[in-house]
Amino acid sequence: MISPGKKQHFTEQEFSQLMLAEFNRSLMLIADRELLVNNITSKIKQISPVERIVVFLLDVETEKYTRAGKRQHEDEWFRDIRFTPHDKLVNWLSVNERCFQVSRSDEVMTYLSDRERELTHAASIELIFPLKVMNRLNGFVMLGARSDEKPFSGQEIDLLSLLFDQAAFALENTTLYEEQSARIKKMYRADRLAILGQLAAGAAHEIRNPLTAIRSSMQYLAKGIHDPDKLEMISELMEEVDRINKIVQGLLSFAKPPGLEMARVDVAELLRQTLALLNNTLARGGVEASLDVRVKNTVVTADASQLKQVFLNVLLNAVEAMENSEEKRLALGIEDGRSLDYRSRYLLVIVADTGKGVEQGDLENIFNPFYTTKKDGTGLGLPISYGIVSRHGGEMEVNSASGKGATVVIKLPRTM
Ligand SMILES: Nc1ncnc2c1ncn2[C@@H]1O[C@H](COP(=O)(O)OP(=O)(O)OP(=O)(O)O)[C@@H](O)[C@H]1O
Ligand SMILES: [Mg+2]
Repeated sequence: MISPGKKQHFTEQEFSQLMLAEFNRSLMLIADRELLVNNITSKIKQISPVERIVVFLLDVETEKYTRAGKRQHEDEWFRDIRFTPHDKLVNWLSVNERCFQVSRSDEVMTYLSDRERELTHAASIELIFPLKVMNRLNGFVMLGARSDEKPFSGQEIDLLSLLFDQAAFALENTTLYEEQSARIKKMYRADRLAILGQLAAGAAHEIRNPLTAIRSSMQYLAKGIHDPDKLEMISELMEEVDRINKIVQGLLSFAKPPGLEMARVDVAELLRQTLALLNNTLARGGVEASLDVRVKNTVVTADASQLKQVFLNVLLNAVEAMENSEEKRLALGIEDGRSLDYRSRYLLVIVADTGKGVEQGDLENIFNPFYTTKKDGTGLGLPISYGIVSRHGGEMEVNSASGKGATVVIKLPRTM
């Protein structure tokens, strides 16, 4: 382990080489993005004592650059700050592929947008480095002034640039690794759902026939009964039978889904219709709903009525999750998204609520048939929705932190 304390035993150049070699070795072993960013941060501190280190990384699916790494002291300047490929800073870094020093690059600063200029000045950012691999800007790093108020030396900046070139490659590796883990997880889920589906279809079939017999016999028997207490009992029994019937119906549509009737569907319009259907439910629950359409073209090829069923399930789940919340906000959004390899494009439908959220350990289960935390839930809403979205060639995922609401993302493939 080399450290600045031992720096005096080496020439500057030897120190740089050793530092980079060690950094490179340590990066090879890290497959986790956050860990990697923390490792990079601590290496920067070994090279330069800086006031502030802010790392932005590209989320390929949403095409946004968001902050990464541990945030011990939440930095107020950067809270909720995101960048897109259309932002001038991102554009400059992509084209020029090199770092720039804020206090010495007047022409770059003039090129930046007002927001970017204000942000760099307010947060006293002095250096901005691109993290670029091949032709893609995977992120960028902003460094504040040195804590000892000395200017950065040319050698220091060169060393940092080399460090970030290596870091960019290591980050690309973690992205590939995460992509692969996500793929394996999805395959596992699809397998599990297929097996459960077969089982469910068999069981549903067996249950449906006796159930029909029970219901019609009860109706027949009720005709000869006049005692109000007994009639009440029969009506309760009928309700239970209907409940079982509803579960069986759900199971069948999960296991043997109807074919897709594809047509051009305006997703924004369909979401508005679904919201209108839920108007009363929302008003009764005191839920404030909003729809933010952030793309021009919201048309996809899909089965409108099945897609509507997905939206209904997801929106109802959100409303139900907010039953006991102080704040009841349902934020729907439509955005553009891309697959990780850039090959396909998606329309993202995002449904965020301020409900009770899902515990980390339960996130794995919520797509399992019959998994429910509700008294009257069947636990089929999400698995059925997942099936519908999958059959459209899309994907569906739920992100949540317990107590902080849940966000459902539905990705629908777009034709290029
Ligand atoms: N937006 C959400 N916030 C918090 N928990 C959720 C949310 N959506 C789903 N869940 C959890 O996932 C479980 C499964 O949801 P799913 O829609 O499959 O079934 P359900 O809502 O319980 O029953 P049904 O859809 O038949 O009414 C829910 O019981 C709930 O615990
Ligand atoms: Mg549900």
